[in-house]
Amino acid sequence: MIEILVTGGAGYIGSHMISSLVDAGYKVVTLDNLYSGFRDAVIAGEFVEGDLSDRHLLEQLFSEHSFAGVMHFAAHIEVGESVRNPAKYYRNNFTNAQNLLDTMVEHGVNRFIFSSTAAIFGEPSYIPIDELHQKRPINPYGRSKRMVEQLLADYDRAYGLKSIALRYFNAAGADPLARLGERHDPETHLIPLVLQAASGRREHISIFGSDYDTADGTCIRDYIHVVDLCQVHLLALQALLEGKGSNRYNLGNGQGYSVREVIDTAEKVTQRKIPVIQSERREGDPARLVADSRRVRLELGWKPRYGDLETIIAHAWKWEQKMPSK
Ligand code: UFG
Repeated sequence: MIEILVTGGAGYIGSHMISSLVDAGYKVVTLDNLYSGFRDAVIAGEFVEGDLSDRHLLEQLFSEHSFAGVMHFAAHIEVGESVRNPAKYYRNNFTNAQNLLDTMVEHGVNRFIFSSTAAIFGEPSYIPIDELHQKRPINPYGRSKRMVEQLLADYDRAYGLKSIALRYFNAAGADPLARLGERHDPETHLIPLVLQAASGRREHISIFGSDYDTADGTCIRDYIHVVDLCQVHLLALQALLEGKGSNRYNLGNGQGYSVREVIDTAEKVTQRKIPVIQSERREGDPARLVADSRRVRLELGWKPRYGDLETIIAHAWKWEQKMPSK
């Protein structure tokens, strides 16, 4: 059986990935420090609690297993926090990633799938954003991810480490069976917050800015179902296992929805009125972020299964309704 190491497997995207990997017939080991993940989200495979700063632990893990590849999800993800506390972001997102990659090189493990982000592009100069778009991240979060992408290019040239960087736009939705879902603490993402307002766990949803240069004045984002995202990881892993070279892909549905449209769709899906408050703009929010995902469709043969916003929100809503019992 092909064995894969998943770092951050107790987190939102990592936990869905483990389920997809196991369903696809892989053997999985999760490494997670449970800083922001949940032990009960790891529903299959072996679990190791530990931190990527622990070189001794990494050494031991790679000696005991023969991993065919590594999927790296473990990272901090809050843009605002990265501005206030850049040390935390560079240490975890960059230095710890380097620890992992150095251990891989030492043990001859040379296939790496990296969770990158739309934040590496910064303020877009055109939409939709393709892979060639200039990379000028505007916050430490985006810079820490960009730096790993640069390191990966150098490690390929020098050590032959093959990697695929996947730049997520807005990951959303949940396992269709609601075994897993989004559980950040604190939650900062739009769709779970809107659904918490629908279920009554939150009094209202604040719209951060209604004076953007968009049709209804609110920001536009490209939401991609977490299960579709995992499907791309499987295809990327397959490509590396077949001996294909390093690559990078932008991952979205290629269709933007405004904050207002997300709230309207959530009202339709939940059949509930969602209380809304108009607030100030949130610092660092570009008006529009939409992916040009033609390359991943063409080269990896990816087809989104849950491309429409209503399905994404319906699955997230199923999960939200399970949440109070968690
Ligand atoms: N928003 C609100 N109210 C809220 C929360 C969000 O109006 O309570 C708005 C935001 O201003 C933004 C949109 O909803 O316009 C989406 O916001 P999210 O926080 O859900 O997602 P972001 O687009 O800010 O973040 C995503 C990823 C990050 C990544 C970033 C890149 O989740 O990891 O894109 O810019 F860094």
